[in-house]
Amino acid sequence: MPKIDFDGRSIECEPGDNLRQVLRSAKMPLYNGVAKTIHCRGLGTCGTCAVEIQGNVTEPTRIEKWRLGFPPHTCGSKLRLACQCKVIGDIKIIKHEGMWGSKTSSDR
Ligand code: FES
Repeated sequence: MPKIDFDGRSIECEPGDNLRQVLRSAKMPLYNGVAKTIHCRGLGTCGTCAVEIQGNVTEPTRIEKWRLGFPPHTCGSKLRLACQCKVIGDIKIIKHEGMWGSKTSSDR
């Protein structure tokens, strides 16, 4: 079973599980600030579930590429939308600052 390391915790899920659903079920802090209550519920349109992922997840979906292509996100960033990712293998997740989780250390 794939292992997910995030926010100082380690959990497991089934291969193919949706990353957003896994993190929400484990009550892990996927969203920042007001995005904890205002988000698109996994449709891939708001961009607030953006995280940096190290490890194996599915390739970006068409809607994910679209949403990560405009502000506050930028094309070519390392971010992924948790709601659009299925977990394939062990992963480590980093949530960056800002409502969209888009403020990486190079932005500060
Ligand atoms: S929850 Fe809105 S884009 Fe993922």
